[in-house]
Amino acid sequence: MPDDFETMWAHLAPIGRSAGTTGYFRQPFTVAERECHAWFVEQCRTRGLRIEHDGNGNTIGWWDSAAAIVRHVRHPRTPDEGAERAGLSVLTGSHLDSVLDGGAYDGPLGVVSALAAVDVLRERGFAPARPIGVAVFAEEEGSRFGLACLGSRLATGVTAPEQARELTDRDGVRLEDAMAAAGLAPALGPSAWLDDVGCYVELHVEQGRDLVDRDEPVGLASAIWPHGRYRFDFTGEANHAGTTRMEDRHDPMLTYAMTALAANKQARLASTGAPDVARATFGRLEVTPNGTNAIASRVTAWLDARCESEERLADLLAAIEKQARDRAGRDGTGLEVTLESLSPAVLFDHELGARLAAGKPVIATAAGHDAGILSTAGVPTAMLFVRNPTGVSHSPAEHAETADCLAGVEALADALEELAG
Ligand code: HGY
Ligand code: MN
Ligand code: MN
Repeated sequence: MPDDFETMWAHLAPIGRSAGTTGYFRQPFTVAERECHAWFVEQCRTRGLRIEHDGNGNTIGWWDSAAAIVRHVRHPRTPDEGAERAGLSVLTGSHLDSVLDGGAYDGPLGVVSALAAVDVLRERGFAPARPIGVAVFAEEEGSRFGLACLGSRLATGVTAPEQARELTDRDGVRLEDAMAAAGLAPALGPSAWLDDVGCYVELHVEQGRDLVDRDEPVGLASAIWPHGRYRFDFTGEANHAGTTRMEDRHDPMLTYAMTALAANKQARLASTGAPDVARATFGRLEVTPNGTNAIASRVTAWLDARCESEERLADLLAAIEKQARDRAGRDGTGLEVTLESLSPAVLFDHELGARLAAGKPVIATAAGHDAGILSTAGVPTAMLFVRNPTGVSHSPAEHAETADCLAGVEALADALEELAG
């Protein structure tokens, strides 16, 4: 008898949360995150799902029903291929990695709900006419290697292996070395298992309060805002904190501080007249040498910027960068800006959404997802959101009530029945 939703949730809950924290640290290819993948493999085994691992760290469990006839079609994906993919398999799932000190639901809710939805379909006596896959994508958060949705980007070919090979974590560990250290055999690049996928439906905890405000347990996603991650390297002149006169300083901390304020102001200005269409956040900082009694020589800061359109995102970045450079000119400091991750605007598949809507509220999100990458790669994609009463995410405060989670499982089971029937 497979574990029910609450039992699965209870088994997963302690993994990646140390005694001193309430949040999760499930960074990709660490012990905790691989323990999550091992948990998933065990859950697939108890359900008789066929396990597949690809060379990008992704794990997939397949329900290959006897009735399912999959044409293993190996053909290049073209954007207008959506209609031709109707005869292929149906994919669901999400991710098990977390941000640093993350919440319990962002990612895992989609994976646990997918396994529970398979159980619901079997209780309904449903036998899929085409395979149903449950995928766990690696490094969705980009919290270790900086590139969001790394596993799905590599699997779909949206990001080339050569680019991924250059990635290192904060300790300088290369991606493939981290994968090998976790016992994997990295083989970065497009995954053949995706060629058979006709559509993808991801269930995810809502990272906002829209469903709370509408008093609805489950919603359907319409779009994902374009968003990017930019590294700002501010360079200055290290010197003594006490003996260096204020007018003689070239302090990169000052240029950074003014840039952080400018980013906040520009995002607010971008929204004047239009409702809340821009967001800018500096949440990560590295100071060199990071000493109390020394003026810094270098400050590296990462900007996360998101807007409801690609044009507005480009304008926001230009405005922030201009103000940063003006300030650097006054401080006599240097600035280099590097784009580290860019996710285009995503409009989910209208036809797929119409088939799954069933009166659910339709909401846009500024949070990125693997579903956005698969959609960008030409796979017809939809997302279901489950109400988060706190509206908070990327924080231990993230939450979803069990009743709403179970409503999400039913909605996902309905979606899979509709698509794989
Ligand atoms: O950062 C994001 O938008 C997502 O939660 N990974
Ligand atoms: Mn997520
Ligand atoms: Mn997230």
